[in-house]
Amino acid sequence: MIYDLIVIGGGPAGYLGAERAAQAGLNTLLVEKRFIGGVCLNEGCIPTKTLLYSSKIYDNAKHGERYGVITKDIVLNHETVIERKNHVVEFLVSGVKAQLKSCNVTVIEGKGRIKGKTAEGYKIEINGETHVGKRLLIATGSEPIIPPIAGIKEGLEKGTVLTNREILEMRSVPQSLVIIGGGIIGLEMASYFNSAGSKVTIIEMLDHIAGDTDKEISRILMKNYERKGVNFKLNSKVIEIKGNTVFYESNGQVNSIEAEKILVSVGRRPVVDGFGLENIGIEIEKGRIKTDERGKTNVPDVYAAGDVNGISMLAHTAYREAEVCVNNMLGRKDVMRYNSIPSVIYTNPEVASVGETEESAKLKGIDFDKSTISMRYSGRYVAENEQGDGICKVLIDKKYGRLIGFHMIGNYSSEIIYGAALMIEMEMRVKDIKELVFPHPTVSEIIREAIFRL
Ligand code: NAI
Repeated sequence: MIYDLIVIGGGPAGYLGAERAAQAGLNTLLVEKRFIGGVCLNEGCIPTKTLLYSSKIYDNAKHGERYGVITKDIVLNHETVIERKNHVVEFLVSGVKAQLKSCNVTVIEGKGRIKGKTAEGYKIEINGETHVGKRLLIATGSEPIIPPIAGIKEGLEKGTVLTNREILEMRSVPQSLVIIGGGIIGLEMASYFNSAGSKVTIIEMLDHIAGDTDKEISRILMKNYERKGVNFKLNSKVIEIKGNTVFYESNGQVNSIEAEKILVSVGRRPVVDGFGLENIGIEIEKGRIKTDERGKTNVPDVYAAGDVNGISMLAHTAYREAEVCVNNMLGRKDVMRYNSIPSVIYTNPEVASVGETEESAKLKGIDFDKSTISMRYSGRYVAENEQGDGICKVLIDKKYGRLIGFHMIGNYSSEIIYGAALMIEMEMRVKDIKELVFPHPTVSEIIREAIFRL
């Protein structure tokens, strides 16, 4: 069978790309080797948010007396949380499958392997059969980086060391959990397991947590988690794992800590090996498929979207990249813009940001003004966040008076951030934003408050 498009990988980039292509009339085949929905739906975004919602309810109940609600004998039942997570995942995955079916996308479960190119198109072998695609969309995603730490492989085999995949399947809460890496996955998992009762320690190589997040915000987040009992070892590099003991080096000294389970969350890498990219000469640069702003690779009619291009590695970026690829396949002009992609850490409190940070703006030589205010300028925030210490920071480019960066820590920021992303995408100036009317009382009004302080 000759298809107009074969999509390899059924995560956010793959399934949405296949849907959009089929809706536009392309005869489309999607091949997925594991689960439709990919990491996002099955072992990433959605399952973690399900767990984090349970822990948020639990935390709120535990501190109910601050709000005049007296609760007794509150229990977080981890097994029920995991069962609910499985139902949520099943529901959403079946929704994606139904959507693909209704768009007439042919879905084959199996591993796709690129065999080469003929005059008819690209040959893809799946389950022993060859299929031909006039175009390809590579959306094979990413996998956890397993760093070369002595003893880590043995730990993974024994089940003492876990990745984001296994930790979401655990049926009981470990008494103690060491997390290697204080990035997004590490922090979100620390958030849940700390609430669920584990003694959590995060070991982070850098002098701060949360990667590129605004430094002031990452400090506030860390303080919040220290207050909840999470232990942080910064400037500390894990060098060995022996059984349940993690050895780490800090200021030239080797220390150790024991834990029932150890989570390794030191980043993810694009999946570029083992499915024949070399057979059609796809250019790989620093372990990722090199693409241009239209999602094109160096090979004609072969596109790549999502984590496999290693650019932004977020599900929402993947959606848009897939659309850009499909639009270009169809001859519609479309390019990917990365300057207004929001990023969220779904801890409690949530952290969200979009655009430049102070650090990145300085590096680019942008002359900017900033306004930082306490979230307590929002009446709704005060009403709902006893002892809340969130902040909101806006960065304005002095030359054009435009919003270029927005950062906040405080709940609902995950839902508010798209508004700031829209303002950056639309290149709104301070004077335009000042004319907007925000609903009152909402936490989103903090944007207006911060802007008026400039
Ligand atoms: P990450 O890149 O966010 O953080 C990894 C951290 O590990 C870094 O801070 C690094 O300094 C540290 N590290 C590396 N080697 C170490 C060692 N030997 N000892 C101690 N620390 C070490 O990676 P993470 O958290 O694994 O997340 C992977 C990807 O998943 C990210 O690209 C992220 O964007 C994505 N993701 C996004 C989510 C969201 O949008 N809410 C949720 C979960 C994941």
